[in-house]
Amino acid sequence: CGIMGYIGDRDTTKVILEGLAKHEYRGYDSAGIAVIKDNKISELRTIGRVSALAERVAKEHFTGDFGIGHTRWATHGGVTENNAHPHVSSDNRVVLVHNGIIENAREIRADLEAHGIKFHTETDTESAVQYLGYVYAGDPKAAIVKLTKRIRGAFALVIMFYDKPNEIWVARKGSPLVVGHAENEGFCASDPTALLEYTRDVWFMDDDEMAQITKEGCKFFDFNGAEHPKESMHLDWDAAMTNRGAYPHFMLKEIHEQPEVVAHTLLGRVAGESVDLSKELGWTKEDAAKWRKIHFIACGTSHYATVVAAHIMETLGNFEIRTEVASEYRYRNIPIDEETLAVFVSQSGETADTLHAARLAKERGAKCLVITNVRGSTIHREVGEALITPAGPEIGVAATKTFTAQMTVLTLLGLYLAKLRGDLKPDTERRLTAALMDIPGKLATMLSKEKEIEALARDFADARGFFFIGRGLAYPPALEGALKLKEISYLHAEAYPAGEMKHGPIALLDKELPVVALVPKNALWEKTISNIEESMARKSPIIAIATEGDGEIGHYTKHVIFTPETEPELFPFIAIIPLQLFAYYIARQRGCDIDMPRNLAKSVTVE
Ligand code: G6P
Repeated sequence: CGIMGYIGDRDTTKVILEGLAKHEYRGYDSAGIAVIKDNKISELRTIGRVSALAERVAKEHFTGDFGIGHTRWATHGGVTENNAHPHVSSDNRVVLVHNGIIENAREIRADLEAHGIKFHTETDTESAVQYLGYVYAGDPKAAIVKLTKRIRGAFALVIMFYDKPNEIWVARKGSPLVVGHAENEGFCASDPTALLEYTRDVWFMDDDEMAQITKEGCKFFDFNGAEHPKESMHLDWDAAMTNRGAYPHFMLKEIHEQPEVVAHTLLGRVAGESVDLSKELGWTKEDAAKWRKIHFIACGTSHYATVVAAHIMETLGNFEIRTEVASEYRYRNIPIDEETLAVFVSQSGETADTLHAARLAKERGAKCLVITNVRGSTIHREVGEALITPAGPEIGVAATKTFTAQMTVLTLLGLYLAKLRGDLKPDTERRLTAALMDIPGKLATMLSKEKEIEALARDFADARGFFFIGRGLAYPPALEGALKLKEISYLHAEAYPAGEMKHGPIALLDKELPVVALVPKNALWEKTISNIEESMARKSPIIAIATEGDGEIGHYTKHVIFTPETEPELFPFIAIIPLQLFAYYIARQRGCDIDMPRNLAKSVTVE
């Protein structure tokens, strides 16, 4: 879900609607807006997109002095206009929007109903606003303090009171929220990118913290109501980075940004032919020697970046590595201790599963590190030590440029750790740093094949589904390629280690189920070719991602995308470009909503 709040002299509904549109990638089942004018709360809600809400705002000349808005990704209660936020108390004195889940909503509701308060929706959120209406006696802070003691669960709340014409209140526990201020105007949002147009000086709200936003400034309090000072943070992104430019979709723009993103990610971290992360990580040789176990914890695409990293690191040194999805890591009985280096990878830095896993690892005494694209995000603040992927804001729900940036940082981390431990051979460092420096150029070469890949996608857009296969370092990009395709085209796509196909998945193959085979020219080439032959014997069409100069691949299929040669470890960097473009053009061919695929949210702040 996404939240936007505004108080100031601009056109309130315009600022809020534009802010909500920037949050749509966080979910868009329904949207709503509330404003206050002359001590009166009005609200407007609709199912569907922010554009539908904007149409109604225009038609009904809906306006007010200041306000709040919300775009919803349903968790509790169906997608109906009535369940959309904002929610207003029955006495019309309080209005709020909420992200998160209120766990004891039923209990609060029963209490309030016993006091004669009428509920109007099925949502957990309504219990909060009705409770506030019930306890509000002219002092917003006192009412919110009471509320925070009454509700359990996760929340980012943005609240307005009918008789406070210059105040928006926010409270946070477990759901992201950022507050911003410029001259004579204040803002709040779920995502800082929504504020970039107006201000770059922001405060990321912490858990158990509330704030009062007025035109004059922001004040911060704990949940007992005691005020504390809070440093603002300057965002190093700018508003232009959140524009689509001439590209039809953010995803395509972000795919094309990858050469530059990788170059930027290497900057200052590779000098000459040597990797140096000492400016960011204060690690010693003794530290590195102590961390015998390396855990990589992440979700979705970030998880696949860690699978690539594990494969690369295994070639660099004697590491004991685990890659786990965060939602499992947390609930299993995996030994975590002081000898563990736990690396959390999260583009947004807000993913609830990853955040909770980080808390667990910290509790158990592991050394924690986060790799994130959002400086100041919750995981960054909680973990402390970070390597930032400087990919700039990623708006398309399907991650692309942050994936390559993560792979880059993770490769550097692997090299650096191996070096600190004395495992890294100098010629390996030279070979890989030189090859990394060449990656941007090779990605550009791959991008120049866009038309070819588009044509291929056109030929295959009607397939029933796809398998993606690869061995060794060709397997992790197969995972990510399949994920991209299913996320945005809704076709069934599954990745398997090529050798595993014969143990089950092969039963599904027929002429309507193409196999995308990642078959770089390396020691495993022949083995993968055997698996291609097994698939061909079941009449599956084959699409091959093969190395330039591979004269034999043409015997097996006419559908080949050639990749430039690179060091074997870095094949995933290059292979991912055609797979991203293939998914993009299949989705486009099928008329899908590429930047905002159904049912998905870019940042998932619930477990
Ligand atoms: C969501 C997104 C995925 C993303 C995953 C992890 O599920 O839809 O695209 O990979 O979260 O996100 P993170 O921000 O933690 O990298």
